[in-house]
Amino acid sequence: MSNIIQVERRVSEKSENKFLSEYARITDVDNIIDFECEIHDENDNFLGYYVPGAVAEKFTEVFEYASKMKIGSDMRITSTGKNVSQATRTNVHGEKVDIPYTGVIGAFEQDAGERFRAHCRLTNFTKENFNLVYRDMMPLWNDIERVYKEKMPEDYMNQCNTADKLRTDWRFLNTPFTTVTVNNNFRTAYHRDAGDLIGKGQAWSIICTGWRDGKFYGNELVFPAYRIGFQMAHGDLLICNPHHVHGNLPRSRGERISFVCYIREKIFGCMSASEESDYGKKISEWRFFGNKDANSKPRRTNK
Ligand SMILES: [Fe+2]
Repeated sequence: MSNIIQVERRVSEKSENKFLSEYARITDVDNIIDFECEIHDENDNFLGYYVPGAVAEKFTEVFEYASKMKIGSDMRITSTGKNVSQATRTNVHGEKVDIPYTGVIGAFEQDAGERFRAHCRLTNFTKENFNLVYRDMMPLWNDIERVYKEKMPEDYMNQCNTADKLRTDWRFLNTPFTTVTVNNNFRTAYHRDAGDLIGKGQAWSIICTGWRDGKFYGNELVFPAYRIGFQMAHGDLLICNPHHVHGNLPRSRGERISFVCYIREKIFGCMSASEESDYGKKISEWRFFGNKDANSKPRRTNK
């Protein structure tokens, strides 16, 4: 039986937005949680399940591989902070900020409106580093799944049932995820995750962190509406609802890697990998040859 903690919401859901794009401050937090517990809000909604050191051993084992997964950031506005210059990587005060390596491995859906990426696909990094992502890192992915199954068996089963409805092409190995966000030395500003399938009976996101040599130097994960933070030391794992505003406290030194594992909601609308690839080629040709009238646009067959 887990240790259940109830926390109270201190600001309304709407005013939670006032935190967005700001960096977390220690004054935003009353408690940094560093022990195993399940956290609910005052209405008994699930916020998170935290397990310190849950995947520490496997994270240590694969750390050098994980460290190779430095994926260039698209500098998402909210999570990088609104005051960060993309060109110089400095804030408005001219101070250097962490190089934001943040990217995605596994499956990703087409862009809204199919403007840039018309088809579902494995991300470029995944295709170019297939063995690293799926083979070398496998001990950690399996271990994350083990902890999820052990700590929240019912939710885990529900998530597996949800993932079973996906085409196998888009499953992240055999796990109940499609996609993993990889952050290396990235201090997120306050943001809400988006594009993931979250909710009771469907899926949760799982965040875990690893530190080079297992050393811990900060970067706690803060949920300001509840005035709580999670320590996120080496091998710590948090099953959570990341649609609540969250962000990191500063990191002083040491290499910190975090993975966020989840199901992308729109992947359910994807065709098979080969159909998607054909569709992507047809769209490219349609654009390239200037034949852009809507009537002649290639159509998806599964919608
Ligand atoms: Fe996040």
